[in-house]
Amino acid sequence: FRAPVDAEESCEQLENLARGIRRCVACRLHQSRRQAVPGEGPANAEIVVLGEGPGSKEDATGRPFVGPAGRYLDQLFRSQGIARDRLFITNCVKCRPPENRTPRRDELKICTNLWLKQQIELISPKFIVLLGQIAARQMLGETATVSQLHGTVQTRNGQNYFVTYHPAAALRFDWVAVTLKEDFEILGSRHLRHSAS
Ligand code: URA
Repeated sequence: FRAPVDAEESCEQLENLARGIRRCVACRLHQSRRQAVPGEGPANAEIVVLGEGPGSKEDATGRPFVGPAGRYLDQLFRSQGIARDRLFITNCVKCRPPENRTPRRDELKICTNLWLKQQIELISPKFIVLLGQIAARQMLGETATVSQLHGTVQTRNGQNYFVTYHPAAALRFDWVAVTLKEDFEILGSRHLRHSAS
């Protein structure tokens, strides 16, 4: 049993987690990172956005989604009237994998269990937006595929997940850009309905 925490307390706890993440040496990714990227946003965010892992710009600045994919993501949310500062934005792994390789299974497991689960529990969002295959698999299980689930809300253990493609893929493939836009229209209408109720 955990007593409910007030807003100020959860903000402080989230900051404590961020401090822990910046010092974390639990997997090999700490050896090559410049800095860890805990994530950012308000502790009472209704939406958590989950990417794969920091890229070069994120590793250099310590902030999530600040490169080209991040700008694209901001636009997508803005198109639905949702400002970036209302979102909590983070990644499955908090340290950049060398050469931007895909995070390995053990790295994902360690980072999720140590940090992501606690972040989500503290924030207790209405939706978690899963960007791309790695995030989808990490939260929905090994068999989850973005091509089948994109644009839908999946519920696991009482938590709502919205599945979509990764914005970096939209920068490479036009068809992904079109699909992402459609998915965000669905997300926008779901969000409005939730906010109204
Ligand atoms: N891609 C991600 O998955 N996360 C970031 O923070 C930046 C790019």
